[in-house]
Amino acid sequence: MRLPNLSRRRLLQGGLALSTVSLLPAWPARMQAGALETAAFKLTAAAARVPLAGADYPETEVWSYNGGLPGPEIRVRQGDRVAVDVTNRLSEPTTVHWHGIRIANAMDGVPGLTQAPIAPGERFHYAFDVPDAGTFWYHSHVNSSEQVGRGLSGPLIVEEHEAPEVDRDVTWVLDDWRLTAEAAIAGGFDHPMDMSHAGRLGNTVTVNGRVREEFAVRRGERLRLRLINVANARVFALNFQGHTPWIVALDGQPVEPHPAEAGRVVLGPAMRADLVIDMTGAPGERFEIVDDFYARQRYRLIDLAYAAQPLREEALEAPPAALPANPLAEPDLTDAGRHRVVFTGGMMGGMAGGMTADGWLDARALFRKGKFWAVNEIVGEGGRLPPLFSLTEGRSYVFELVNDSAWHHPIHLHGMSFRLLSRNGEPVWRQPWMDTVLLAPQEKAEVAFVADNPGDWMFHCHIPAHMKGGMTAVIRVREKERA
Ligand code: C2O
Ligand code: CU
Repeated sequence: MRLPNLSRRRLLQGGLALSTVSLLPAWPARMQAGALETAAFKLTAAAARVPLAGADYPETEVWSYNGGLPGPEIRVRQGDRVAVDVTNRLSEPTTVHWHGIRIANAMDGVPGLTQAPIAPGERFHYAFDVPDAGTFWYHSHVNSSEQVGRGLSGPLIVEEHEAPEVDRDVTWVLDDWRLTAEAAIAGGFDHPMDMSHAGRLGNTVTVNGRVREEFAVRRGERLRLRLINVANARVFALNFQGHTPWIVALDGQPVEPHPAEAGRVVLGPAMRADLVIDMTGAPGERFEIVDDFYARQRYRLIDLAYAAQPLREEALEAPPAALPANPLAEPDLTDAGRHRVVFTGGMMGGMAGGMTADGWLDARALFRKGKFWAVNEIVGEGGRLPPLFSLTEGRSYVFELVNDSAWHHPIHLHGMSFRLLSRNGEPVWRQPWMDTVLLAPQEKAEVAFVADNPGDWMFHCHIPAHMKGGMTAVIRVREKERA
């Protein structure tokens, strides 16, 4: 089968005839264990074959959870205890990280920091509480470029006790794949070219694990659309032609409902947005959703395709209600500890060098070792270096994040969410809570949080090729002595 150029077809013309988005596989199991609500799940990480690129292409061998793409949607209620039995049927070790959940440290899924990796054939039992309602996700945290890049991720939805009224609650997991002409996943993970530039960008974009043509809607419907960017490196900027999406949450945390700036929803790797969209089109109409983050690579992600039958004649247009707030501690800015974090490296970055576990190396020596990035001049190497900062439990902190490089970086903190206070010195509207902040080249941002979750937490760029290349650190929250 000869497929001259998948990327051209998909990214520039988007001409594959494919199925409509279907709902993600639902889970039957919900157990009641005494007074405590425990939601129990099983995940098996293994190779599988899926029709990722559609019927015109061979099936793609991926690594996935429970044989599907994305991994099954774990859907629980706020305050639940979540129990997940993970079995590793890969030929290499793995772990599962519950991205954005303010979790107990031992359940955070970071190899060498919070747990030993799960060896092939072994199991690990995760059990944790979910304090916040919202849109989260889970993914491997071992050999992430390859394991996440081959498909080891899935959505984790925590429902509000009183969810806002919508006609449908839909999850879209957005992913980006580098496929060969035969729709196989291209090898060469952690190539120095990717590590030192934008990361492993792909050539094929999927919605819920398939290249999609359209999503069926009806006039008058109000949709909650949960977007999750699980891609290794691709930033999405979605334009909803003819529609005005309201943003109601970012990274799982409620924000005051507001129309997306210039109608465009921007999501870096690992980031989420919950949208409320009113279907104001007419029966039979079609509208494109276009991603134009990369100026020379504008493409149609999917169409909204209106059914002949409306749900209601007049579309709702009143702003959606705000989501109920999550129980986050408000940082005290008057008495906060302050730290500056400078990210350097990459091509055209002019990095002098960095400190490694084996001492200071200049940039050339670092590049030869496959290291391209540093955080405060320290080249991250898994658990080999002491924590970047040691914070006191209960105290508020402001981090000034400085991207002194020519590349975008989605910077993620484990274990705690932070408020985004400012960008380049300008206060950010409503200072939203996030767990991942996308820094543009040379951008500065300030974030604030209460260090209320003791443990050693990863703090890293969520582009795994950058992380492996040194853009990673550990933040320690020292437990307060309890009387
Ligand atoms: Cu999505 Cu270190 O994590
Ligand atoms: Cu990065």
